[in-house]
Amino acid sequence: MRHLMSPLDFTVEELDRLLDLANDIERNPEKYAHACAGKILATLFYEPSTRTRLSFESAMLRLGGQVLGFSNAASSSAAKGESVSDTIRMISCYADICAMRHNKEGAPMVASRVSGVPVINAGDGGHQHPTQTLTDLLTIRSLKGRLNRLTIGLCGDLKFGRTVHSLINALVRYDHISFVFISPEELRIPDYIREDVLDAKGVSYREVERLEDVMGSLDILYMTRVQRERFFNEEDYVRLKDFYILDKKKMKLAGPDMLVLHPLPRVNEISVEVDSDPRAAYFRQVQFGVYVRMALILTLLEVNI
Ligand code: NCD
Repeated sequence: MRHLMSPLDFTVEELDRLLDLANDIERNPEKYAHACAGKILATLFYEPSTRTRLSFESAMLRLGGQVLGFSNAASSSAAKGESVSDTIRMISCYADICAMRHNKEGAPMVASRVSGVPVINAGDGGHQHPTQTLTDLLTIRSLKGRLNRLTIGLCGDLKFGRTVHSLINALVRYDHISFVFISPEELRIPDYIREDVLDAKGVSYREVERLEDVMGSLDILYMTRVQRERFFNEEDYVRLKDFYILDKKKMKLAGPDMLVLHPLPRVNEISVEVDSDPRAAYFRQVQFGVYVRMALILTLLEVNI
C-alpha cells in the first residue's frame, strides 16, 4: 500500500505517468466517471481549507466515488483528546483512502504508519503540501510544455509556506532549474532546504528582496500568502503582510510568456487588476488541481482504466 507524504514519494517517471493520466482525464472525463464507483474517500481536515478539501471531494465525486469526513477539528473527536493514530485506525474501517491536513508537521506520516488505507498528506504545518505541488507541476507542464529549463521566482513567505517547500523539493529533480527567492529577510527559505536540498544537489539560486529587480528574468512567478497562522506574534505579521503586491505596473516588467501561479488563497499579494492578464494562471491552476487529484486517487487505489 502506498501513501503520499512528500512529492519525492514518486519517482520522476512515476510523476510523469501521473501527470499524463491527469491530462487524459482532462481530455476524456467521461472515461473516468465511474472508475471509483463503490469507493469512499475520507477527508480529515484539522486545519482550515477551501480548495484542497473541496478539490479532493470534487475529484472523488467526478470519479463516481463517495466522500465523508470533517472540516474542523473542533467538531471531531480530536476535541475530546483522541490521537491521530486512533482516528485513522477507525477511518480505515469507513473509507478506502484518506486525505489528511493537520497543523502539526508529521501528523499524516504518523497516521500512515497505522492506517489500513492509503493516506495523502493534504498539508502538514509549515512542512509539505505534496498535492499542491502535483497541481503546480501539472499546471507548469501543461501551460509551458516542460518541467526543465526554467527560472522560477518564489515570492513571499518562503519560511512558513509549505507549498514552496514541497515545490522546491520536486523541481530540483529536473534539469537546468534555477530559483530566485524573493522575500523579506525574516521570511527567507529555511536553512534545512538551503543545505539539504539546494546545496546538496548543487542547484543554482539567488535571494533578493525586490520583486521589481527580477521580474524580467523569470519563466514562472510563484506568489504566496504570508502565513499569518504560523507567526509567533501579530506585530510581525502586520509589518510583513503587505511587503509584496503584484500589480499591473510590475507585470509590465515581465516577459510575455511568464506565468503567475499562486496556491491560493490570496490576500493582498496579487492585485485583482492582474486577474485579467493572460499570464495570470492561478485560477487555471485550481482546475488542474482537480484533474491531478483524480489521477492520484486512481493511482493510490490501483484502479486501471
Ligand atoms: C495553501 C496551503 O494550505 O498551504 N493553500 C492551498 O492548499 N491551496 C497555501 C496557503 O494557505 O497560503
